[in-house]
Amino acid sequence: MSVESTETNPLRALSPQDLRAHAAEALTRARERSVALTDVDDEDLVRQHSKLMSPLVWDLAHIGSQEELWLVRDVGGREALRPDIDDIYDAFQHARADRPELPLLGPEEARKYVREVREKSFDILEKVPLQGRRLTEDAFAFGMITQHEQQHDETMLATHQLRKGDPVLHAPAPPPSRSGRLPAEVFVPGGAFTMGTSAEPWALDNERPAHEVAVEAFFIDTTPVTCGAYAEFLDSGGYEDPKWWSERGWAYRSEHGIHAPRFWSREQDGWWRTRFGVHEKVPAAEPVVHVSFHEAEAYAAWAGRRLPTEPEWEKAARFDPATGRSRRFPWGDEGPTPEHANLGQRHLRPAEVGAYPAGVSPLGVHQLIGDVWEWTSSGFEAYPGFAAFPYKEYSEVFFGGDYRILRGGSFGTDAAAIRGTFRNWDHPIRRQIFSGFRCARDARPGEVA
Ligand SMILES: [Fe+2]
Repeated sequence: MSVESTETNPLRALSPQDLRAHAAEALTRARERSVALTDVDDEDLVRQHSKLMSPLVWDLAHIGSQEELWLVRDVGGREALRPDIDDIYDAFQHARADRPELPLLGPEEARKYVREVREKSFDILEKVPLQGRRLTEDAFAFGMITQHEQQHDETMLATHQLRKGDPVLHAPAPPPSRSGRLPAEVFVPGGAFTMGTSAEPWALDNERPAHEVAVEAFFIDTTPVTCGAYAEFLDSGGYEDPKWWSERGWAYRSEHGIHAPRFWSREQDGWWRTRFGVHEKVPAAEPVVHVSFHEAEAYAAWAGRRLPTEPEWEKAARFDPATGRSRRFPWGDEGPTPEHANLGQRHLRPAEVGAYPAGVSPLGVHQLIGDVWEWTSSGFEAYPGFAAFPYKEYSEVFFGGDYRILRGGSFGTDAAAIRGTFRNWDHPIRRQIFSGFRCARDARPGEVA
């Protein structure tokens, strides 16, 4: 049996009309979220809340600019709406810190621009053939642009987290733990499994193609590392002892005066944090979030463990020992529902560990999708057989750079922008993102079944 033949493409069963409706629905959901995230006063919209981030108004018009480039000009073959602003919204041309100085579209102009682009995109989606060209096969370009918008929405959510002042975002609390007492770790058998995908219709170039990867038997944490466990590392002096840190991690910690996860502070009665403008006690049962790769690595060393590699993470998430095949998601091939995972900014925080029993993987690993992005020990590299698509700047220019892979998505990631195969990458010092982790360890000879 070939690697590809066990994969399913959920869009192949749709009629052309249903495929168009599916793409339109995904685009609309992304836009509703973008509108909600930019529903702040104009001053807030143009301000740079942190040097690490763009002003929200840049993200908004950049979303429109990318949509214009790909859907209106390329897929639709239509005339450019605003060729004069291509450069301003080219992320490769201007670092985030410099973006406030650019002659950006103002709030009203930016809102009008994205609306006009979207009207044209919908018209094109109605008319363009969804076959015969790889870019439009399975409505891929529309899926790519949906994911791009959702990724910027997550970035804008991170900007909101950095924003000072009264809360402007509100959401209900996520479900509590409902799994009872879980084992600390799960055994993952050694051997080959299918990593990556060749069939997933909206998968990006770096997730392709499906290929066999062998891993040694190992153990992985049943859940992400909690704030409670992380506080033990802090309280035992973990941030003051170089022996747990890599040389680079220690230098980073010392240079930046890092003494706890970002947004945490020590008060008389323990650890507190600020979350979207709310000051609150750190909840012990929630996955820790806003830690860098270096901090995750130091915690793992202190706990006598290590971070999983990227293939280990994916095997724990997708491998079904009963069939030998890899699933699209830990729970199966169907897309995420609110029962499976904490995604899509439905809640403004990770859920307690054990909150999503319906999302468990066949091996028994919880909350791999949603809640927090999980750092792995792997760098960002091409899979064997990789081919850049639709352009080199999507992934290829980042291969081999100073990045670590993050997997699984966070509470701020939309279902359209996450899969069992989805790969995120970022600098190892990054922590304004919704990043957490889980640990792993090698299986000892006597433990291998
Ligand atoms: Fe972008």
